Amino acid sequence: MNYPKLVVLISGNGSNLQAIIDSTHRINPNITIRANVVAVISNRKKAYGLERARKYNIPAIYLPFKSKKMDRIEYDKSLANEISKFKPDLIILAGWMHILSNEFLKIHRRVINLHPALPGEFPGKDAIGMAYQAFKEGKTKRTGAMVHWVIPELDAGEPLETIKIPILNNDSENDLRKRVQYYEKELLLKSINKVLLNNLYP
Ligand code: GRF
Repeated sequence: MNYPKLVVLISGNGSNLQAIIDSTHRINPNITIRANVVAVISNRKKAYGLERARKYNIPAIYLPFKSKKMDRIEYDKSLANEISKFKPDLIILAGWMHILSNEFLKIHRRVINLHPALPGEFPGKDAIGMAYQAFKEGKTKRTGAMVHWVIPELDAGEPLETIKIPILNNDSENDLRKRVQYYEKELLLKSINKVLLNNLYP
């Protein structure tokens, strides 16, 4: 059976990568993804997600962006070329902390990103912290998460799935972080299936 090939880009812990692996290995009883993770790439050497990949014999590649030695376009092209070797059907950004340029997206356009906020709210780093701050200032009682198609503009492509997540009165920032990180996994898995099963493209 020729399953679709997934390449997952990470920069950190890789708990979302783990959720994808669990679903492709039928370890998650709720959501099965009929696809294979064929490579995991990190721009951070110490990203624990690389370890997670190795445990499943998935090629785990460290590809750093060294801003003093190369420009962004050069990096994005080398990243795109590295990914091309695996002939992916879908590229998933799961905690990937590097903005992909148009140069990259001209080579690979079927790319989705998980972002822990709702469309149009809190783009960029620390979206959960920003939502918590807005809550503390009485400006909101909820945040959310989304999976969207990737465009050069940060956290701004067309959403595939969104979820609203309440912020409770006695929440600490860490409570909120845990809640968002719990719900975002299901959202990511659903989105991957949505793209693959409906053969969606941006
Ligand atoms: C997630 O909260 C994701 O939404 C954000 O970065 C975090 C990555 O977590 N962009 P992990 O590395 O998958 O554990």
